[in-house]
Amino acid sequence: MSRSRKRPAGGLDELAFWARRARALAHAPFSRFKVGAALRARDGQIVTGCNIENASYGLTLCAERVAVFKAISEGLRDFDAVAVVAASRRPTAPCGPCRQILWEFCGDVWVHIVNLKGRAVTRRMSELLPLPFDSRNL
Ligand code: THU
Repeated sequence: MSRSRKRPAGGLDELAFWARRARALAHAPFSRFKVGAALRARDGQIVTGCNIENASYGLTLCAERVAVFKAISEGLRDFDAVAVVAASRRPTAPCGPCRQILWEFCGDVWVHIVNLKGRAVTRRMSELLPLPFDSRNL
């Protein structure tokens, strides 16, 4: 988890701030499309992720999944919101595989989808992934 003294107050603005900082660290030499994510646990901890591409393109990790796996690997389990930041005019929503991972590990969290101009769209995970497949099906 990274923290800075110069950070704005809580809520969407704080999550978007951290997602934007994570985006700056993206490794995206192939698509040049940088994405940052910030995931908030209910205890207030924020874990960030950026997309990490690979010359074997299919091995690329999206920002959202990096954030989720970092958080899980640090022992966090209970989340309430995630922000995703990219440079596109239309805010960039999580891709299909990331929706599945977010649903399974974070549940019905708020998803703030933000572009660099601060335009934000907020949805619940259950809106982004209706009729999900999960452990209840097994
Ligand atoms: N990407 C993400 O990081 N998150 C998404 O939800 C959509 C796509 C990344 C993967 C790849 O590095 C780049 O954006 C272009 O697809």
